[in-house]
Amino acid sequence: MAVKNAMTADFLRSAYGGESMAHMRYLYWATVAKKEGFPNVGRLFEGIAYAEYVHANNHFRELGKDIGDATVTAGAIFGDAKTVDNLQGAINGELHEVEQMYPVYLNAADFQKEDGAKRSFHFALEAEKIHADLFSKAKESVKEGKDMQMKAVYICPVCGHTVLDEAPDKCPVCGAKKEMYKEF
Ligand SMILES: [Fe+2]
Ligand SMILES: [Fe+2]
Repeated sequence: MAVKNAMTADFLRSAYGGESMAHMRYLYWATVAKKEGFPNVGRLFEGIAYAEYVHANNHFRELGKDIGDATVTAGAIFGDAKTVDNLQGAINGELHEVEQMYPVYLNAADFQKEDGAKRSFHFALEAEKIHADLFSKAKESVKEGKDMQMKAVYICPVCGHTVLDEAPDKCPVCGAKKEMYKEF
């Protein structure tokens, strides 16, 4: 279902831009982490990059045939630094989404009765909370010169829900089945 209101459409375009950039940024930072000898942090970046791809796709789909330019709010845009700093950049971006961007976008979509956009923003908000937490844990390890302790990262391909080591039987956010989760 396509979006009807201009304000919600603006927010979808903005969020689409932000998620697209986060996707690329995390893939870049994954290669940096691997080069620095933190392969698990690299996989964490790759897995979460996929979650941001899922969010961008959801927002894009909700825009339907809408045509327009995007003003992007991202919280963290560029930065080619060491992994410990890149992780802080990632945390800043995720916290911006959790504390400012998605709550405002979600409330606007709710006010404008845009159910599809609401769902898309809700999915992203729930995942970004987890991302901020995981990147913080990764940063603590890297600060001590150690790689992150984990077996794998699992991402729900419907909502971007992110979990370490084992996928749940059902996604707690969207209800997708365990077999659908993508492993990194
Ligand atoms: Fe995220
Ligand atoms: Fe999900």
